[in-house]
This record gives sequence, C-alpha cells and structure tokens, in this order.
Amino acid sequence: MGEGVLTASGALTDAAETALLADAALARVEGALQMDGVPLTDIASAVGTPTYVYAATVIRERFAALSEALFDGVPGGRLHFAVKANGSLAVLRVLRDLGAGADIVSGGELHRVLAAGFDPAHVVFSGVGKTRRELEQAIAAGVGQINAESVEEIGLLAEVAALGRQPVRVGLRINPDVTTGTHPYISTGQGGIKFGVPGDRIAEAVQLIQSAPSLQLVAMAVHIGSQIVDPAPYAAALETLATAIADVEALGARIDTVDIGGGYGVRYGADAGLDLAALSAVVGPILRRFAAQGRRVMSEPGRWLVGPAGVLLTETLYVKQTGGKTFVIVDAGMNDLLRPALYGAYHHAVEVQAQGRAPQAVSIVGPVCETGDFFAHDRMLPEVAPGERLMLLGAGAYAFSMSSNYNARPRAAEVLVDAGAWRVIRARESLDDLLRGEVLPTAP
Ligand code: LLP
Repeated sequence: MGEGVLTASGALTDAAETALLADAALARVEGALQMDGVPLTDIASAVGTPTYVYAATVIRERFAALSEALFDGVPGGRLHFAVKANGSLAVLRVLRDLGAGADIVSGGELHRVLAAGFDPAHVVFSGVGKTRRELEQAIAAGVGQINAESVEEIGLLAEVAALGRQPVRVGLRINPDVTTGTHPYISTGQGGIKFGVPGDRIAEAVQLIQSAPSLQLVAMAVHIGSQIVDPAPYAAALETLATAIADVEALGARIDTVDIGGGYGVRYGADAGLDLAALSAVVGPILRRFAAQGRRVMSEPGRWLVGPAGVLLTETLYVKQTGGKTFVIVDAGMNDLLRPALYGAYHHAVEVQAQGRAPQAVSIVGPVCETGDFFAHDRMLPEVAPGERLMLLGAGAYAFSMSSNYNARPRAAEVLVDAGAWRVIRARESLDDLLRGEVLPTAP
C-alpha cells in the first residue's frame, strides 16, 4: 500500500483497513463483519471461539489471478499448492477442484492430499529430510515427482525406487544463492543453509541420479523463501536455474519440467504484498522461454493462495490494566497462531462488531503462560469489553497448520464460507482428543 496508509497514531487508516478486509471478502454491515455475506457473529455464536474461518471465494479468485500472472503464454503451467500452508481437507478440495497439484513435505501431507482426492501424478514431494518410510509411501502412491535436495539423499532414493515398477521422476532442487530480504527464518535461497544442492555439487548429484536405473532426472527446482515482496530475486534465481538446466542437459539429462517454487508475499497490514503485475513482468518472459523450450512450468505457492482468505475469531476474556499498560486478554493463544511469537509477524486485529468506542493503545495477548504469547503490542484498537469478539486477519496460511496443543489447549475449529453459506470443516478438538494414544504406566 502507498501513502496515507497509517494515521498519525500509527493505526491503519479506515480506507487501508477496508482494503485489507476486502482481501478476505469481508465488509461491515451496520458495524457487523460479514464474510461473503455471512455474519461472523453467527459463526462465533454457533461454533464458539477460537475459530478459523476461510473464504472459498477468495481462494478461487487468488488462484485465478496468480495463474494468470505466471502462466500467460505458458501452456500447461500448473500451481502446486504448498500443503504446509493449510492442510485442511476442505481447503485442499477447493484447490484440487481448481486444478491445483500439491507440493508436500511429509508422509502426513501425502496422506492428506490423497484423502482430499488429489491425483498422485500431480503431487511433488520436496523436503530436506525425507525418511525411508516416507519415500516408500510416496513411490507406492505414485507421486509424480520427488525433489532431491541433497547429494546425500540420492542413494536412499535410488534404493527405495528400485523396489517400484518404473523409474521415479526426480527433480533436483538447487540452491541458487540469492538473498530475498524476508525474515531469516523463512529465507531459503541463499548459500550456507540446509536447502537445495549448491552449485558446486550439481554435477555430482546429476551423475549419481544418472547412474541409478531406478531414477530419471526430469525436473529442476528452486524455492528461495517465503513472504517475498520484491520480484527481483525471482528473476535472479530463475536465470541461475536456466543456466543450471543448460549445464545439466550438457551432461545428458533431458529436463522436461521447471519447478519455480513459491514464496509470493501477501499484505498483512501497512506493508504492500508482492505486486502480481510486477512479478509477471519480471518472471513472465523467463517462464515463456522455458515453455518455448518445450518444458512444463510449475510453481508451489502456499501463503499467496490462502493467507488473506482466512481469519481467526477470538473472544475477549479480560481487559487488564498493569504497569501503565492495557492488556486485552483473548481466548486464542500462541498455540493457535504462532506467527507473532515466532517471527514478530503483524496480524491486523479488528472488532467483529464495531462498537464505535475511541481507539486506545493496547497489547493483545493470549492465555498461554509465556510472555511471548502475544498477537500485538502498542496496537491502536477501539476500546473493547469482556465478551466482545475480535478477529485477526491474514490467518489462512501457516496459522492452523502451525497450531499445537501447548498448555493442553484443544486446537481450534475451522469453518469454510462458500457461496453465502458456512460449515464446520474441522470440529474443535475435545478434551479427550488431548489424551488420545496415551497410556498410563501400570502400577509397580
Ligand atoms: N515450496 C517449498 C519447498 C517450501 O519450503 C515452501 C514453504 C513453499 C513451497 C511455499 O511457500 P509460500 O508460497 O507459502 O511462501 N511458517 C512460515 C512460512 C514457512 C514457509 C516454508 N516453506 C510463516 O508463517 O511465515
């Protein structure tokens, strides 16, 4: 967002907030938030809080917009949804129905995408630490591509692949050594970190794959990080990838697929997200070049497709005055939404029902017994009272999927709003769910 986004007190302007709400198909009707025409109060009253709510219409719109930005003039281009962002079956089903493939990083995610009805041929298995069991599971399921991330894993991959009936399609994820300026914890494309095969080991990896009859090197991949808002690093990474493809083909491989990773950044507050037109201008020509060479192009977006589509509903428990500060204590905690605690991430907070009270600077915190359990500090928020509900925006990606049972808190419910109707797509965990699989030691 450009000028006029913040007021003098550092809060978002009304116009900026309205735009942020519109990203999630949210609008106020007589002060009450509605998502795609459904009052959020109805959902919170019926399902309780904390509850995640996702707008299917937003996911569909974003899928169409990103597909167009990347794949105009790139026939056969496909988005493979990064399941780690949001693995809920109903969300996966929305994406599958749009024609998405899936990018998975574990046997658990494979189990999920198969349950959601994805064609295994459209599944790519990435990750630096695949186990033998997971490789067996993926090969038995017939996943379309396994991305090798190190020279060291190729031996095991070849061994497991030899148990199957046909050669396994392998992608080689290289580390293009580019920096992105995103948070260091989610930056994955620079040298000296655990991701991808470094340039000086690519030839070794290719030779190992070529020497294994059970493996077929067909793809080359990069993924440079997450929440990237500058298109320039994509161009740098893709040019490095293009050079690597030429080098690899000089060694006798034929690369039919180019996997450009994901990482497209969204807006969470005052900062602008990645501008699709700018992305398209920078990467479009490179992708069209790949297509003209007869290669299929795939991308692995997670956050961009679902992040703005989700919100977290929570209820105010107490408003506590201490040390000259006001703490709004809500019923969602860091176990539900970890991003502020882990990355200092900004999630915009608004009242579900606007009360028209004056804004004040508050901290919004959860019930978990850690000082790091916060959603916002020094945030301008209209005065709220116990029992009133708040909503955190930008909670469709890496939100429920990173939630835990810390402090023995049942995980939240999830709801999907679609075509003006809503339904629970995951029941809130029960107290008995918390004990599942546990055994008491027998008395001595
Ligand atoms: N492909 C690979 C190989 C990845 O590792 C990731 C994300 C993606 C695709 C999708 O990236 P996206 O398009 O969603 O940026 N928990 C962090 C984000 C971690 C991203 C990990 N890898 C957060 O909450 O910001």
